[in-house]
Amino acid sequence: MIPEKAPGGDVLHAPGDLKKEAHIPSFEKYKELYIKSVESPEEFWADVAKDFFWKTKYTGKFLDYNFDVTKGEIYIKCMEGATTNICYNVLDRNVHERKLGDRVAFYWEGNEPGDEKTVTYRELLQQVCKFANVLKSQGVKKGDRVSIYMPMVVELVVAMLACARIGAVHSIVFAGFSSESLCERIMDSQCCLLITADGFYRGDKLINLKLIADEALKKCRDKSFPVEKCIMLKHLTKEDEASSGSLSPPAKRACPDLQVPWNPEVDMCWHSLIGGASEECEPVWCDSEDPLFILYTSGSTGKPKGVLHTVSGYMLYTASTFKMVFDYHSDDVYWCTADIGWITGHSYITYGPLANGATSVLFEGLPTYPDVSRMWEIVDKYHVSKFYTAPTAIRLLMKYGSDPVHKYKRTSLKILGTVGEPINPEAWQWYYNVVGEKRCPVVDTFWQTETGGHVMTPLPAATPMKPGSATFPFFGVVPAILNESGEELEGPSEGYLVFKQPWPGVMRTVYGNHLRFETTYFKKFPGYYVTGDGCRRDKDGYYWITGRIDDMLNVSGHLLSTAEVESALVEHEAVAEAAVVGRPHPVKGESLYCFVTLNDGINYNQKLEAELKKQVREKIGAIATPDYIQNAPGLPKTRSGKIMRRVLRKIACNERDLGDVSTLADSSVIEHLFENRCYTAV
Ligand code: WT7
Repeated sequence: MIPEKAPGGDVLHAPGDLKKEAHIPSFEKYKELYIKSVESPEEFWADVAKDFFWKTKYTGKFLDYNFDVTKGEIYIKCMEGATTNICYNVLDRNVHERKLGDRVAFYWEGNEPGDEKTVTYRELLQQVCKFANVLKSQGVKKGDRVSIYMPMVVELVVAMLACARIGAVHSIVFAGFSSESLCERIMDSQCCLLITADGFYRGDKLINLKLIADEALKKCRDKSFPVEKCIMLKHLTKEDEASSGSLSPPAKRACPDLQVPWNPEVDMCWHSLIGGASEECEPVWCDSEDPLFILYTSGSTGKPKGVLHTVSGYMLYTASTFKMVFDYHSDDVYWCTADIGWITGHSYITYGPLANGATSVLFEGLPTYPDVSRMWEIVDKYHVSKFYTAPTAIRLLMKYGSDPVHKYKRTSLKILGTVGEPINPEAWQWYYNVVGEKRCPVVDTFWQTETGGHVMTPLPAATPMKPGSATFPFFGVVPAILNESGEELEGPSEGYLVFKQPWPGVMRTVYGNHLRFETTYFKKFPGYYVTGDGCRRDKDGYYWITGRIDDMLNVSGHLLSTAEVESALVEHEAVAEAAVVGRPHPVKGESLYCFVTLNDGINYNQKLEAELKKQVREKIGAIATPDYIQNAPGLPKTRSGKIMRRVLRKIACNERDLGDVSTLADSSVIEHLFENRCYTAV
């Protein structure tokens, strides 16, 4: 399934010095270990597990599972019977056994340049123990759910690890979500306590987070689910650092006058509680399969799914993917620009890096504030060597050209990562050539909230790169491509991406709704985990994720991926971003309706339209010729930056009933798009 030898020809290789030092230095080594990981998973993962602390050993099989709905209930268990604690493993083990207490865990960089704070592993452990004692004093016990709704501050990490230390289940809700969404999530996971902050700045914009949190709690109360306890961190209204017992300094752009609603019956101040708490806190030893956290992800029915991950498998998987995919070494400074409110932040800001004793940048702000070179300024400031971001951020910065990048040296960079959606080759090339100056391999990591960690990804020194391909499976992952009838396709082919067996980090259930877990992921093709993504395998065996299956278009009987057409459009120098949806067509089945956002200063006209049409025809073929092209200065996106194609499909068809748009970041773009719809095909 994986080719004997890495392909030659049109591929890019990592520089020699990176290969010399790498954990997986060659394609042959990758292949050898991969075979071991799928043929003898127990042996392979035992090597990984050796590095961790286990209070007791596991009792049954290393990995026990049923992936086939026709044979009974779906389950996945990894190292069942073993007891451990993930917080102990990512903090105490590093401080006490590995003597890394003085190592920096986080360089916190605030929204406002100059707002900064360094936190060592020892300091982090102290704060986590104290806050774990605070939670205990509030009656939080093993198995209880705690909702966390906080900005990107070190205390967010403290709160999540304090939960993990006492076996409580954290349910983090991204601080950009509305009160309605927070309420829905609190109620679905039946949280007993909410942890939040007064407010924060996103660029220039002040967010009164406590106000939104209170609205959510009121909604919960109205729906007969009262949450009696709310702990609030003072981030903008803090007086001074020494007395506050907090890790982040008072914000430079403090806002002491922020109106923070306060209900003494429910609200408690983080700082007063933690001030008197003890630094001693014995971890609660958990079974491998005890729940670690719930994280909500959107579902096709509209109601979000509470993806549940458990302790040991998630720990082994995030630790090993972090180590191998970013080829982590102890002198690295790593920076993932995601928010901890998403799975990327859970796995690759908190658990994966800390399990390795890594030093990370934790950034509160935006890539465009105060200007569009902020990212590269931070890279130079902390000598970041491994950098991980999303294609949408790359395309956003690409719009401004290479000057803002060239303002900074970026000589510390060694590996660049991307995640979140298929990266179009144009953006890939810009990232590789301009940001990384052709020195840094790009790891295009495909995974999902559900997979816990990377599942299809290059290993930077081992896998020759093809721009836009997530290349090959990570250890323990067995992909297949199925056609509509569920038959496995061999060789070059395109269809549904599925996985044939579990890896340690895969989700265990949808919280409170195991049936939904089985129906969503296992029902369509019994025996397989169905990702919902389309995928193509080329003649060299490389996998190319083509986008969600629901984004697949069928034009005159030909399967087309929206991503393919989009990437052809974006390759035109005038285009910054493109989104393509299908519009029903009486003869062809579907026609292509394309939304394009142009680069700064470029005007839309008929000449350009003709050029774009030609470009796509030339790139993909006549079958992919756009039927409609609409100039779209703004696209509807979720707060995590995903284009909401579902909404665009409605706009393309002039259907005003958009359904649930609560996850939309900026709803003002919608009206503009409706007003400027194309009525006739180009
Ligand atoms: C969906 C999962 C995994 C963390 C962030 C998103 C798309 C993600 C890639 C990639 C192509 C990608 C898929 C997937 N996706 N990474 N490298 N190449 N597509 O987590 O919100 O659970 O979304 O994001 O469509 O199914 P998520």
